[in-house]
Amino acid sequence: MTPVCLGDFEVRARTLLPKPTWDFIAGGSGAELTMRSNRAAFDAVRVVPRVLRGAALPDPAGRLCGTPAKMPVAVAPMAYQRLVHPDGELAVARAAREAGVPMAVAMLSSVPIEQISAVGATLWFQLYWLRDRGLMEELVGRAEAAGCRALTVTVDVMRMGRRLRDIRNGFALPPHVAAAHLADGAAAASVHADERSAVAVHVSLTFDPTLSWRDLAWLRERTRLPLILKGILDHRDAAMAAEMGVDAIVVSNHGGRQFDGAVAAIDALPAVCAAVAGRCEVLLDSGVRGGIDVLKALTLGADGVLLGRPVLWGLVDGEDGVTRVLSLLREELIDAMTQVGCHDLPSIRDLAHWRQEAPAEHDNESYADGLWSTAPRPTTASRSFSSTSSSGSDGHS
Ligand code: FNR
Repeated sequence: MTPVCLGDFEVRARTLLPKPTWDFIAGGSGAELTMRSNRAAFDAVRVVPRVLRGAALPDPAGRLCGTPAKMPVAVAPMAYQRLVHPDGELAVARAAREAGVPMAVAMLSSVPIEQISAVGATLWFQLYWLRDRGLMEELVGRAEAAGCRALTVTVDVMRMGRRLRDIRNGFALPPHVAAAHLADGAAAASVHADERSAVAVHVSLTFDPTLSWRDLAWLRERTRLPLILKGILDHRDAAMAAEMGVDAIVVSNHGGRQFDGAVAAIDALPAVCAAVAGRCEVLLDSGVRGGIDVLKALTLGADGVLLGRPVLWGLVDGEDGVTRVLSLLREELIDAMTQVGCHDLPSIRDLAHWRQEAPAEHDNESYADGLWSTAPRPTTASRSFSSTSSSGSDGHS
């Protein structure tokens, strides 16, 4: 059956992939509470459509981190894509090129950046902070030489979240998949042991958990590429990032794969945007599953989103599958823009929105207070209203 929404690709991928691979992709950390709340929070956003604005042919094109993009979407950095398809990152890069969107290549890519750049897509290179500072410098140089247009530093993996599915599966990389940028190919990530995630063992051996703002200043001095910090949720961290001159931040909880208990990314977004106040771009990931989600993220203040797991769902069918995922997403976004009377991206940011009440189990708990403590407060006990525009007092009663 032809997939008609991104969720249809998920069903197909779950059927086709071996269980340990599926669990590695689909899983979150701990009880997967944060992973689930990413979706619940998106579902709770309601947008107030505008009418009579003649938006017959919406155009979702714009710029992301200095480069043109046919829609406000980039492919999120995701490790080890040859787990899903033999072409791995090459297939994703070809699809991203066709879709006209940037692709963030993971440091833990299973194909080297030089080969991926030969595809001709707009690439960003994602860095984890390694204990080996010399290797960090080398990777920055390779990314620059390969023509990457930005560096994304992921700041929410001091150590890997406890991903129980991987631990239970004793997940380890199969022989045909390795970290192409690391001399030992992340050897420790391939050593299977019962009830242990080999990928987590590799991370604990190679990542530097002492990463601080000072290290980022070190990196800023060593590259002219735009810097993107990925994994920010607190508005004070966002303000710091803007102050130190980063070009963009990604509001993200790593798709619920790191701290299980973190706020949903879309819930953290409004306060982050307020703190940044336009000093850098604000992107968002964690839970984006369709064009309406992209529109909601922009309505709440984001400049764009990163698409994560749905890309891997498409990748089970190689380049063609990822192309279909990205083109369906664009089609959905254009459809959503038409429905709400928006002809371009700035007009999306001008829409008003409501947040539905928190789920019943949170009633009478401090959850609601915490949730809104840094964001616009609900105007009634059960719902809130907000608009990102200064003139957004229309459209609600
Ligand atoms: C990731 N993510 C990730 N992030 C990163 O900065 N470097 C990485 O190497 C990876 N690897 C990775 C592998 C897999 C299999 C997944 C699913 C995710 C996180 C990714 O960039 C993004 O933040 C999340 O995927 C967003 O959540 P959703 O939308 O996929 O739920």
